[in-house]
Amino acid sequence: MYRIGQEEVDELKKVIEGGTLFRVGSPYLAVENFEKEWAGTIGADYALCVNGGTSALIGGLVGLGIGPGDEVIVPGYTFMASAIAVLAVGAIPVIAETDGTLTIDPESVEDRISEHTRAIMPVHMMGFPSDMEQLTEIATRHDLLILEDACQADGGSYKGRRLGTWGDAGAFSFNDFKIITAGDAGCVVTDKREVYERALIYHDGGASFRPYAEDLSTPPFIGVQNRVGELIGAVLRAQLRRLDGILADLRRVKKQFSSILKENSSLQFIESNDPEGDCGTTVGLRFPDETTARTFAGAGGVNGNLPIDTGKHVYVNWEPILEKRGAHHPALNPFNLPQNAGLNMEYSKDMCPQTLEILKTTVFIPMNPDWTPQELEARAEACIKAGRDL
Ligand SMILES: Cc1ncc(COP(=O)(O)O)c(C=O)c1O
Repeated sequence: MYRIGQEEVDELKKVIEGGTLFRVGSPYLAVENFEKEWAGTIGADYALCVNGGTSALIGGLVGLGIGPGDEVIVPGYTFMASAIAVLAVGAIPVIAETDGTLTIDPESVEDRISEHTRAIMPVHMMGFPSDMEQLTEIATRHDLLILEDACQADGGSYKGRRLGTWGDAGAFSFNDFKIITAGDAGCVVTDKREVYERALIYHDGGASFRPYAEDLSTPPFIGVQNRVGELIGAVLRAQLRRLDGILADLRRVKKQFSSILKENSSLQFIESNDPEGDCGTTVGLRFPDETTARTFAGAGGVNGNLPIDTGKHVYVNWEPILEKRGAHHPALNPFNLPQNAGLNMEYSKDMCPQTLEILKTTVFIPMNPDWTPQELEARAEACIKAGRDL
């Protein structure tokens, strides 16, 4: 759904003419400038651009000091990467229910909290904001950290504050399916200097040799290579300038589409924690049962899909996790680590029945910011007719 064109070409040209594609020492400083611009747009003190949303989540967890011995609560409806990131730092993902907003159910989060819980990872699926007020209250009461997975919600907000800035850290993805993109990239944001420094060190195996090492108050430890180069930075700078325009168009399209449906049908909309902050990428409708949902989704012109069919986004399909293959080597597998003995790692396909029921009875209709008024009306009409024919 993203937009791309001459602006990206112009930014790339500047970087290429500058003659340096590595972020360190580049005269154009595309990645560094993007980080400043992203932090400014989102409203965070620090931003670190990395090579994907998964790396951003891992950077956030490393930044927060999460590791073996820790449980992190994730929703059962998210891309498996949310749980993978937890395992990548040696901790254990505990899977909680999703509620009627298609985001993590705060009540289920409370249920899953144990003496080992260190953090909650709300995921703003499809750009739908999680209930950050309630989750913040729970985290404060239990002394837990929050890492927001805003990978599907670039630029979205909750109660007037951008997603990714409610928690102790937030992670974004700019892969090919996101609101803005560089093919593959991501960003982690935080207001905490220490979290930023730890994520910075981790994302750059050469951290101890870089000029910036002199300014760090955290002694460099061993990291990996999750950096991005200047070409990615160049594309992201141009993409960022498109962000608020895309969001405004998506929200306008979603509002118009929804009001046509509300005026002309009795179709039931999913609940929202903040309709104003919602990114507008998707309209969600709820049906009394799966058969009705499937009939509606498959009706001519509706172009609907059921979240239960989205494979990797549903915990029942996370085979490597359900079967506890948590790393490439048994000695590094968090499920085998002695520090994790006694943690909650009981997984089963029926552990989140509420989530499965909601995913089976919901239909998503993807919005497009570039629909003409005629296209929008025709699609809404198709839904009204499909609803009438049920
Ligand atoms: C909710 C969620 N979290 C994390 C990720 C991982 O992002 P990436 O593919 O950029 O690593 C994605 C990507 O699709 C996602 O949808």
